[in-house]
Amino acid sequence: MDFSFLSKWYEMILKGTGITISVSLIALFFGFIIGLFICLAKLSKNKFLSGLASVYIEVLRGTPLLAQVFLLWFGLPQIGINIPGIFGISSEFVTAAVALSINSGAYVAEIFRSGIQSVDNGQMEASRSLGLSYSSTMRYVIVPQAIRNILPALANEFISLIKESSIISVIGVKEIMFVQGVVKNSTFKPLEPLIVAALIYFVLTFTLSKLVGLLEKKFAMADA
Ligand code: ARG
Repeated sequence: MDFSFLSKWYEMILKGTGITISVSLIALFFGFIIGLFICLAKLSKNKFLSGLASVYIEVLRGTPLLAQVFLLWFGLPQIGINIPGIFGISSEFVTAAVALSINSGAYVAEIFRSGIQSVDNGQMEASRSLGLSYSSTMRYVIVPQAIRNILPALANEFISLIKESSIISVIGVKEIMFVQGVVKNSTFKPLEPLIVAALIYFVLTFTLSKLVGLLEKKFAMADA
C-alpha cells in the first residue's frame, strides 16, 4: 500500500474534514430549531398543526436523504428556484446545509417528542393536581427530566450527520468523501484514500460516541 499521496493532498483532506464538520454542525443547529417547532406542532392540540408536523416527519424520514439533496439541487432549479451561495460560500454547500437541516429537523422532532413522552405521565398528573398550569408543568417538571434523554440523543444525531453528510459529495461539496474521490482519480488507487477517509470518519464518530457515553454516565449519576 502506498500512502505517499498524503504529503501532496493532506491539506485538501484536512479542509474536507473541516467542511464535513461544519456542515454537520450547521445542520445540527438548524435541525434543532426546526425540530423544536415541528415537535411543538406535533404535540399541539390543534389537529391541523399536528397533522402537518406528522407529514413533515414521515415524508422526510421516509424518503432517502440522497433524493432530498437531488430535489433541492436538480429539481428546484427546473421550477426557477436556485439556492444561491452566500458570503462567498458555494451554492453547493448552502444547498447541502439546507437539505441536511431539513432532514435532521424531522429526526430531532422525534428525539424531542420521545424525550418528553419518556417522562412518566404521573409527573404531569401530580404536578397539575398540585395546581401548576400545563405550561409551568412542562417548563419546571417535564422538560428538565426530558433533557437527560434528549441530550445524548442529540449528540447521536450529530454523529449521524457526520456520516450522512458523505452523501453531499454527489453534488460537489468538497467534504471528506469528495476529496477521497479526487485523490483516487489522480492516483488511480482507490483503496488508500478510502481507508484514510473511513479512518477520519471513525476517529470523529468514535470520539463523539465516547463523549456521549460520558454524558449518559453523568446523567445516570444525577439520577441516583
Ligand atoms: N441514510 C438515511 C437516509 O438516506 C438516514 C438519514 C438520517 N438522517 C439524520 N438526520 N439522522 O435517509
